[in-house]
Amino acid sequence: MNRKDFLKKSFIGLTVLTAAGGASACLNGCSSSTAPADIDFTLDLNDSANAALRSVGGSRNVNGVIVVCSSNGSYIAVQSNCTHEGATLSWQQTNKRFYCPEHGATFAQTGSVLGGPAKSNLVSYNVTVNGTLIRVTS
Ligand code: FES
Repeated sequence: MNRKDFLKKSFIGLTVLTAAGGASACLNGCSSSTAPADIDFTLDLNDSANAALRSVGGSRNVNGVIVVCSSNGSYIAVQSNCTHEGATLSWQQTNKRFYCPEHGATFAQTGSVLGGPAKSNLVSYNVTVNGTLIRVTS
């Protein structure tokens, strides 16, 4: 191998290591989740796809938002992806919190971080109820 080939291969190796190092650093703390913007949709409780929302503790993920029936006739909505690395959240009715199954982050009903590794709050959305219609807006 001549000097030119050595430098060329060293540059490629350095580039690969740098890219891998960047990805590794991101796994340890980057936020890769983006909350959906300009949200405006309506769910009808009479629609069978929304049946889970008829019961307290029921939830549904739709349009990047998790909608939860938090108590009788009351609903909350936050972004459905964890602010740590974007895993899909679930709702824990017993603890009244959002839970990330990937690394265990927890979030309050308001979307604020309760426990890490997530450091950023979830975006929460406005919910209005009109009869059987649940409207979620930014
Ligand atoms: S993706 Fe890591 S805690 Fe949610």
